Amino acid sequence: MKTIMSNWKPGTKLQSGRYEINKVLGYGGSGITYRAKEHPKGHPVAIKTLNAIIQNQPDFSKHQERFIQEAFCLAKCNHPHVIKVYNVCQEEQLWCMVMDYIAGGTLRQYVNYKNGIAEEEALNYIQQIGSALTYIHEQGFIHRDIKPGNIMLRKRDMRAILIDFGLAREFVQDKIQTHTNSRTESFAPLEQYELTAKRGAYTDVYALAATLYYILTLQLPFPAPFRQQGANLIPPKNHNSDISDTVNFAILQGMELRPEKRPQSIQEWLKLLTQNKATISKKRNLRNSRQVMLNPSRREQLATATLSQSSLQEPKKETVIKLKEQTKTAQNISKIVSISDSKIDYRKLQEFLTIGNLKEADQETAKIILKISNREKAGWLDTHHVENLPCHELKIINQLWYEGSNGRFGFSVQKNLYQNLGGKQEYDAKIWREFAEKVGWRQNKNWLSYKNLNFNLWAPQGHLPMLGMKFWGFTGWLTVLINQLNSCQI
Ligand SMILES: Nc1ncnc2c1ncn2[C@@H]1O[C@H](COP(=O)(O)OP(=O)(O)O)[C@@H](O)[C@H]1O
Ligand SMILES: [Mg+2]
Repeated sequence: MKTIMSNWKPGTKLQSGRYEINKVLGYGGSGITYRAKEHPKGHPVAIKTLNAIIQNQPDFSKHQERFIQEAFCLAKCNHPHVIKVYNVCQEEQLWCMVMDYIAGGTLRQYVNYKNGIAEEEALNYIQQIGSALTYIHEQGFIHRDIKPGNIMLRKRDMRAILIDFGLAREFVQDKIQTHTNSRTESFAPLEQYELTAKRGAYTDVYALAATLYYILTLQLPFPAPFRQQGANLIPPKNHNSDISDTVNFAILQGMELRPEKRPQSIQEWLKLLTQNKATISKKRNLRNSRQVMLNPSRREQLATATLSQSSLQEPKKETVIKLKEQTKTAQNISKIVSISDSKIDYRKLQEFLTIGNLKEADQETAKIILKISNREKAGWLDTHHVENLPCHELKIINQLWYEGSNGRFGFSVQKNLYQNLGGKQEYDAKIWREFAEKVGWRQNKNWLSYKNLNFNLWAPQGHLPMLGMKFWGFTGWLTVLINQLNSCQI
């Protein structure tokens, strides 16, 4: 008989009481990471294991094998910028990895919170992760999932630490190997989209360069397959003119589509970041003259390529790029959703989302929306209020929810689910019910009351925000909200 396992609730004791679960830190495609206390001293640790969804899949053992590989790969590593694994152990049928707990946040959370960071600071983190990667390459591994969300920043000393070796593989440089095609769009090089392709240190070079691109511009670079189809990568300097020529050039070199054109090792790429400016401008001129050779009408078309969703979200492959009729400059495309441009104080919402108080976060979101609609007194919204919700604020709210839940919650997630069910501009009661069932607002043909919603990270995708049901004064509010999201390009 198949055992139905579940995620661990706070207070659960593992390894005969040695560890005690406190809370969930992160929930990904296959893993779940908890914060726990190690007894007797009670010092904090992070424990990663496979999540309940994977535990109940028929191919669980395959995932578990891969997970054990991650654990042992990390356990072998000893480097100041690679997460330390203290223990790899089995709790009933489940393998877990006990790690150093990093009090802080991911680099992605940090740069979004700061609304961008200076080049010098960014280079400091990239050098640290670069040295971690050089080390793991020497051990014979490639990480294959370098991105700002897999780099932690320890608040105490702002040290950057590489985590999440879930895709790491032992490799023989340049050997053609069969790999699973897991990857993160925007940060993964072309060779990771092919099942059998050469992989080497240059695979991580691309992702580290893409990471630097993101932390300096807050824009996700166009995913490699779109670039291969002709969408030119927008140079990072076009998004953020404070970026130096040296760094702009190094990013473009590191993100060359063809692996053989990239610097072949991390060290070689890191050198480019500090290369002297004269050489760069010569190379840049050469590069520019090559670009002029492109057919001009094609160039114009490509220059108008834009992300169809808020560019701060992980883009869906099929929706990422859309050729727009009206011409937009790259500068225009790169509008950063800036919290500081808003009169609303989002700090509470941010904090609730960071510490995982999702009910409070949901209620705070309702409060914010009432406030921006000047409806705090009334306490509810009508159609025309929703139609007039300002795009800037909707983008911020969406971004905070999306980031705070590793892509699980947010308006844009709800919009995608609704549209995938065939939802259109007009309200349709049947689709509305199907949607509510999909996101878990309805169960067994009944609507759940607000207090029975799932305010935790293993709620169904799109479950939140819900914003307190009584708050909406009309049925079909979601259709109206989605129409507004569409016109705001969220
Ligand atoms: N050692 C740690 N200390 C503190 N938080 C961590 C630690 N490891 C992971 N996390 C948190 O958990 C999240 C998911 O961890 P990660 O290893 O990236 O798993 P996944 O495979 O789910 O992406 C991270 O983004 C981070 O917020
Ligand atoms: Mg991760």
